[in-house]
Amino acid sequence: MIEFEKIDKEYHVGDQVVKALNEVSFKIEQGKLTIILGPSGSGKSTLLNILGGMDRPTRGTVKFNDQLVSKLNDHELTDYRRKVVGFVFQFYNLIPSLTALENVAIAAQLNNNDYQAEDYLSQVGLSERLNNFPNQMSGGEMQRVSIARALSKKPKLLLCDEPTGALDSKTSIKIMKILQDISKSSETAVVMVTHNPKFEQYADHVIRLKDGQIEKTYDNENPKIVEKI
Ligand SMILES: Nc1ncnc2c1ncn2[C@@H]1O[C@H](COP(=O)(O)OP(=O)(O)OP(=O)(O)O)[C@@H](O)[C@H]1O
Ligand SMILES: [Mg+2]
Repeated sequence: MIEFEKIDKEYHVGDQVVKALNEVSFKIEQGKLTIILGPSGSGKSTLLNILGGMDRPTRGTVKFNDQLVSKLNDHELTDYRRKVVGFVFQFYNLIPSLTALENVAIAAQLNNNDYQAEDYLSQVGLSERLNNFPNQMSGGEMQRVSIARALSKKPKLLLCDEPTGALDSKTSIKIMKILQDISKSSETAVVMVTHNPKFEQYADHVIRLKDGQIEKTYDNENPKIVEKI
């Protein structure tokens, strides 16, 4: 469904060249959970941003189904980001002056979605928090709103950069459970960047990065199911 072929990404800082990704190739399938691990600076966010059309590779090709994402012009790339990709970030990025419901509703509107924002919030267990503002919610609740917001775009690709990075371990597991359920119950491919090696066992597919290169990549035939807490 998604294919990275020999992706290089270089950043120019002054007269220095930083090679953030170096000949990175892999495939990601629909309905699977992929986890990307690696030390700080190994290129995880760079990889996710290229997957999501927020950045372009220096060399190599990115394919989404039959579409060559790496060849899209700016307008087409905006369309790809809007229609194909949902993002979840470490610090939620909710709009502080809007309620949970409103934060999800504006994203749903962008895509003329026929489902209601309430439905997505109930899917992440937040039916009781619809009218709370972000500062009236816990970190785990805010992250669930941000997942509901991403889902309301009905993304084919759900990209999560350290979604549990700011959460305690018990709350992290709850988020992990939601992301695993999404990957199993839909056609959506979920890609999650994490520092936590404990999550590796829950993934269908694991990519380990080191210094901008793939150190190891493998499939879990029987990924562990995240238990409900
Ligand atoms: N916009 C940029 N300009 C210059 N260098 C950059 C830029 N973005 C990233 N880099 C460099 O590219 C390399 C990979 O960065 P990246 O953010 O992808 O790492 P990461 O694996 O996500 O790290 P972390 O775990 O700390 O989030 C790093 O050396 C970083 O300094
Ligand atoms: Mg990062």
